[in-house]
Order: sequence, then structure tokens, then C-alpha cells
Amino acid sequence: MSALSAQHNAINLSQGFPDFEIDPILIELVNAKMRSGHNQYAPMQGSLALRESIAQKVSDTYGAQYDPETEIIVTAGATQAIYTAITAVVQEGDEVILFTPAYDCYAPAIQLAGGEPIYVQLKSPDYAIDWEEVKKLVNRRTKLIIINTPHNPTGKVLTKSDLKQLDKITSGSDILVLSDEVYEYIIFDNAEHQSVCRFENLRNRSFAIYSFGKTFHCTGWKLGYCLAPQNLMKEFKKVHQFNVFAVNHPMQAAMAEYIARKENYRHIPEFYQEKRDYFASLIKGSRFELIESKGSYFQLLSYKAISDEKDTDFVVRMTKEFGVSAIPVSVFYHNPVHEQVIRLCFAKRSETIASAAEILCRI
Ligand SMILES: Cc1ncc(COP(=O)(O)O)c(C=O)c1O
Repeated sequence: MSALSAQHNAINLSQGFPDFEIDPILIELVNAKMRSGHNQYAPMQGSLALRESIAQKVSDTYGAQYDPETEIIVTAGATQAIYTAITAVVQEGDEVILFTPAYDCYAPAIQLAGGEPIYVQLKSPDYAIDWEEVKKLVNRRTKLIIINTPHNPTGKVLTKSDLKQLDKITSGSDILVLSDEVYEYIIFDNAEHQSVCRFENLRNRSFAIYSFGKTFHCTGWKLGYCLAPQNLMKEFKKVHQFNVFAVNHPMQAAMAEYIARKENYRHIPEFYQEKRDYFASLIKGSRFELIESKGSYFQLLSYKAISDEKDTDFVVRMTKEFGVSAIPVSVFYHNPVHEQVIRLCFAKRSETIASAAEILCRI
């Protein structure tokens, strides 16, 4: 959709990336780190300074203790961490439960490892997880359950009760959890992000995965990290060492200093909530129906009142005829669905949001 958008000079609300600049302090820090010689390989697990800063941040935010020496690895973005975690633990014949609509990198990684994705569809109207259904699907072959909160593409946020249900289903079993938490700070209405790190039993069986790219508006840096207990990290490391070895050093050194200051990330929920609310206020008068976003930088819109077209056709027509692009939500499912819902990214400057909304109100 980004390519089609560029071809037609459309406003690109399809792919999830900000169109505003990152904090200049972060750029200065990277420059300073390059000038002060952080230009050779970082340690395989990531720069120690960054792992220490991450451990401190996780302790401050979730009250969870991770050992920087053995339980934290810096990765080339969350996608690599997800691939590495799946490859490290999923073997031929294993089943992995995931929830659709789902971010697109989970299923291919499972299949490449020889595993079988077991899809559970989130329930309308608010994309809730039916934990009874999950319970029925769990069996001896279940190796891993993948959750994602705040959720791409729906903007759904898991609650404490969801995490408790997951805890109940997995406790007493060997089932592992991969928790994709790349939007941990993009959460609205004073909700508290329910990280697996907050729940001791879950923490002991989970890979928790994060992305500096998402948090600090620098998706192009491809910098993230994984937290896991030592026994899981040992397996993760075996893949990471020969797949990536080490992640770029100057940006790690800069990030170590940057995240040590809480004021650099404390404001993020409000910053994005303003964007969500601004976009929603402008769309309210349109024929699109808003599906509330509780987290992430995505807004779902239903176009049922406008057209009966397939969402894959609708977004192409929207791009070509009207000049705004979006992602059809059906592509996040493994089976055909006809929900007439599209995903738009509001991680944009106010001018971009206003221009896009003005067009959407004419459709
Ligand atoms: C849910 C989710 N997980 C992971 C990623 C990938 O993050 P990164 O760019 O750090 O690889 C994305 C990016 O869109 C995402 O939406």
C-alpha cells in the first residue's frame, strides 16, 4: 500500500510509521557516540550500558527484575526478536496459538520452524479473546502462545483479567508465551499496560519483546530487545549469535543514555492520545464508523455505510480516487473475512491528519 500510495501521491496512512522527526537530542547522542569511538562490534547480547538501562526501566515500569548479564538481549528491532524467539523454541510438529487479526510476522516464523499456527479469531464487537476457546485448543503439542498488547491492527488492549486467564491456562504446563509489547507506551485513557513482566508465573515462561523504533519514532533504526528468564534466553542466544551476532553499536550507546531519563518516555501516552483524539474528532462527521482504539497508533474504521466492496478493493480505490491510503484488515487473517474494516495510522503530524480526515469526510 505504501508503494501504491507513493505512485498516486496519496496521503499514506497505511504503513505504521511516524511522519514527524525524532527528538534532536537522540540524534546528537548518536553523533556523540560515533565521535567517541563506539564504531566497532557491540557485545553479542547488546551494549552492557543499554542492557543496564533497560533493566532499570523495566524495574521502574513493571516492578520486574531482569539480569542484564543473562536475561536481556538487544535485537535488530522487534521483528528479529520475534523470529529468533520462535526459532529458538518451536520445533517440527509443535503447535503455536495466535490470535487473528494478527501482525504478519508470526505465522511465517512458526511455519519456517516446522510448527503449526493454530488460529483463534478475536471476537467482535471489541476483538476480545475467548479464553474458553483457547483452553479447548491447548494440548500436549502446544508449545507457545503469542499475545500482542496493545494490539496491531485493532488497537485492543489486554486487561489484567486477560493476563490472569493466560496465567491459569499455562500454569502447571510447559507452554511458553511470546508477548509482543512494542506499543507498551502507546496506551490511552490512563490504562495501565499489562505486561507479562508484571505477573511472576507468566514472566518465568515468557519472551517479552519491545521496539525502540516504535517508542521513539525511529522505526528505521530497527532497534529493539527481548526479555526472558535465563533458561529461555540461553536458547534465544543460540539463534541470535549466528543470525545477527551484534546490533549496531552507536545507536545502542545513545539509547542507553536516552532511556535512563524517564522524561524521555513518560509523555508518550498523552502525545499519541492527542493524535488519536484529534483524528477521531475530525472523522466523526464522516460516513466511516470509528472502532475505538485503546492503544497502538492505529485507528480502525468501518466503511459499511459507504460500500459493500471487499476491503482489498476499497483501499485501492480510496488511494487512487481519493488520495488516502489504508490497510485492509482482512490481510491480518489467515481465512477470508468480509468485515469491511480498514486500518489507518495516526502517528502523523496534525497537518497530515487534518488533510487526510478532510478527504475521508468526502467519501
Ligand atoms: C505488533 C508489532 N510487532 C512488531 C513490529 C515490528 O517492530 P520492529 O520495527 O521493531 O521490528 C510491529 C511493527 O509494525 C508491530 O506492529
